Amino acid sequence: TRPLLISPSILAADFARLGEEVRAIDAAGADYIHIDVMDGHFVPNISFGTPIMDSIRSVTKKPFDVHLMIAPVDPYLESFAKAGADIITVHAEAGPHLDRTLQAIRAMGKKAGVSLNPATPASVLKHVMDRLDLILVMSVNPGFGGQSFIPAMLEKISEIRDMVGGRDIDIEVDGGVTRHNAGDIVRAGANVLVAGSAIFKTKDYAAEIRAIRAAATS
Ligand code: DX5
Ligand code: ZN
Repeated sequence: TRPLLISPSILAADFARLGEEVRAIDAAGADYIHIDVMDGHFVPNISFGTPIMDSIRSVTKKPFDVHLMIAPVDPYLESFAKAGADIITVHAEAGPHLDRTLQAIRAMGKKAGVSLNPATPASVLKHVMDRLDLILVMSVNPGFGGQSFIPAMLEKISEIRDMVGGRDIDIEVDGGVTRHNAGDIVRAGANVLVAGSAIFKTKDYAAEIRAIRAAATS
């Protein structure tokens, strides 16, 4: 079984103190730093881009798990790679040539991920499976933190787990993840949990990460 990884989303951090927040989440036991990039076009909200990533790249050695909610995405892949992304995840819906996009990410030496909106079927992954390092199952409609987990996504996670089989691919779940549903999500087959509000809206980040990990592995 694959190691369980926690990827706190800095979308829920205090941007006025972003460097400190990233340092704190690193010290609290984050495995990855989840970076939500929104363009106000693919999703109905704007977050931040590469200048912010550049600023925090020197603050932590933890891998940058970059979730691009932008379309078109292809023209920007190189700048996200240069800004320190380790994993670059694009939406299956963000361009006409997903296979080409995934090849471009790997050609830059980065891990390639695909994200699926809640209504997008798992079947879009079928013919790109061998180009993937990570599958990101959105468990809310992307655009905002603090939304509720959509329970129907548990079945989709299981379906994707079966499709992945023995391949070296992480299954990540993003949206409304808490210590209360982490167990179900991991039992369904996920091994990377994104959490924004659940972690950043508490005082003790380390305690919350421990609680999510404990719930996920019990
Ligand atoms: C939503 C983003 C998520 C979001 C998760 O579009 O992709 O990563 O920040 O936030 P919570 O954990 O608060 O649902
Ligand atoms: Zn995300």
